[in-house]
Amino acid sequence: MTGTSKPARKRRTALLAASALIGGALGAGGMMQGTAVAAPACTVDYQVMNDWGSGFTASVTVTNNASSTLNNWRVEWDYATSGQKAGQAWNATVSQDGTHVTASAPSWNSTLAAGGSANFGFNGVHSGSNPKPTTFKLNGTTCNVDVEDPDIPDEPDDPDDPDNPQPGDRVDNPYAGAQVYVNPDWSEQAAESGGEAIADQPTAVWLDRISAIESGSAGENTMGLRDHLDAALEQGADVLQMVTYNLPGRDCAALASQGELGPDEIDRYKNEFIDPIAEIVGDPKYADLRIVNIVEIDSLPNLVTNVSGRPTATENCDEMLANGNYVKGVGYNLATLGQFDNVYNYIDIGHHGWLGWDDNFGASADLLFEAANAEGATPDDVAGFAANVANYGALKEPHFTINDSVNGTSVRQSKWVDWNRYVDEQSYAQAFRQEAVRAGFDSDVGVIIDTSRNGWGGPERPTAPAAKTTVDAFVDNSRVDRRVHTGNWCNQAGAGLGERPKAAPASGIDAYAWIKPPGESDGSSEDIPNDEGKRADEMCNPEYEGNVRNGNSMSGALPNAPVSGHWFQEQFEELLRNAYPPID
Ligand code: BGC
Repeated sequence: MTGTSKPARKRRTALLAASALIGGALGAGGMMQGTAVAAPACTVDYQVMNDWGSGFTASVTVTNNASSTLNNWRVEWDYATSGQKAGQAWNATVSQDGTHVTASAPSWNSTLAAGGSANFGFNGVHSGSNPKPTTFKLNGTTCNVDVEDPDIPDEPDDPDDPDNPQPGDRVDNPYAGAQVYVNPDWSEQAAESGGEAIADQPTAVWLDRISAIESGSAGENTMGLRDHLDAALEQGADVLQMVTYNLPGRDCAALASQGELGPDEIDRYKNEFIDPIAEIVGDPKYADLRIVNIVEIDSLPNLVTNVSGRPTATENCDEMLANGNYVKGVGYNLATLGQFDNVYNYIDIGHHGWLGWDDNFGASADLLFEAANAEGATPDDVAGFAANVANYGALKEPHFTINDSVNGTSVRQSKWVDWNRYVDEQSYAQAFRQEAVRAGFDSDVGVIIDTSRNGWGGPERPTAPAAKTTVDAFVDNSRVDRRVHTGNWCNQAGAGLGERPKAAPASGIDAYAWIKPPGESDGSSEDIPNDEGKRADEMCNPEYEGNVRNGNSMSGALPNAPVSGHWFQEQFEELLRNAYPPID
């Protein structure tokens, strides 16, 4: 159980120390430092809070008394009887083998600073008596007894153990056990704008034009890609999330995020955008940092749903389908960045209120597979997919499912669901993953769900299923997604911050992540001069009565927004107010 000092381990130690300092935590010193005092290396306080004869609730507090920070903490004990079983747990993952119980740190609270504590709990059952365990270990070191040198080893790093990857190893889920980079540009803006409580959350870096690759593009001191990667190393982060978003003829079904490259400028996309990014990302200095690349939002799905033959067609999308430059651009992006072992490419899959209908779903998976085989890309270049990026679809509708009906009428027939197969993002993402495997993708692909703005808390959030009077009344009064229509996408009134970023939260889901930085506008309703190619979009005008793409509904947008990507204080405040889960 003692930590071995392999070179990779040493490097990791240095990174952790840097991150602790940045986080303002105690500078705990090197991991191997010891103090020769007789004190328990760790303390575990195991309390039975409630015992009703056959079951019980326990609360466990573990304290690291050693002088150095402990990573990936793990508490173990043995029960005295075989009838005692630990069950459903919170704030830790608890498993039991015979009488032996192991409680492992959750990914979001994996570090125990010197002197720091963590608390977790679980429900258990017992047949017969329920004596408290007497001996506890923290990462193999016995707690509650005095020792000379109270250093506790981190989880041992076995380079061959797939459950214990080394920095730089290719892994299935890049988020698992990882510390994700906090973008200081966004973080400062959020903290200054009343969002101190969430300013330490990781958000993605958007490369939305050629100049964004270099420093200073979005204002004097803003960071370029290299600055972000260097800052990620300083933070000791394991993952940096970036969005590559600059296809020729970008945003073909809307105006708000049209970009700098004309429909035919595929060569500039390759040579002036993707190649320079690859040059930076490929610097061996960053080889141990996992780079999550979210590939070209809202591009390929538009070629399925907004082209001739559909009432929703636009000329621009027809043009992009005909010239093939979305498919070529995505293929080139995947192939070029996918050559690096530390890059994890995730292709955009829109959201349930876009591709969740039968005629869009399979066709989109097939088109994505085509792009994953274009321009030298192979499906191996694809780690997975990104759902709901910059959108507002509820993660889970808690009060109804697609299988509900009212007086024999399926909720699919309600105006809101309108024959869609999905009512929320998680069920959609999990199903799309399977559809993608059907289309030819590897079976280990995962999905990231953008939960930055799909919280739907606040006073309008229904707290229980509504009465089953009519199917429309039931759905409309049960749903937590309070939009006018699922096709609405611009600065939605009533929305809140969603689930905080979290690794591996559900089957097939690699992470809940904040890809769209909360507080950044989706677009403006009036033309505001800018040098980014962005234009006014009626979908951002609260007075607009809609078009065929949003069921001719009101836009649901907040008024007076700046152009997309620019700070929108009123929206940020609304997101904070309506956060779900609420902000503590
Ligand atoms: C904009 C981008 C911006 C991104 C993140 C998009 O809608 O078009 O310029 O970087 O949102 O806010």
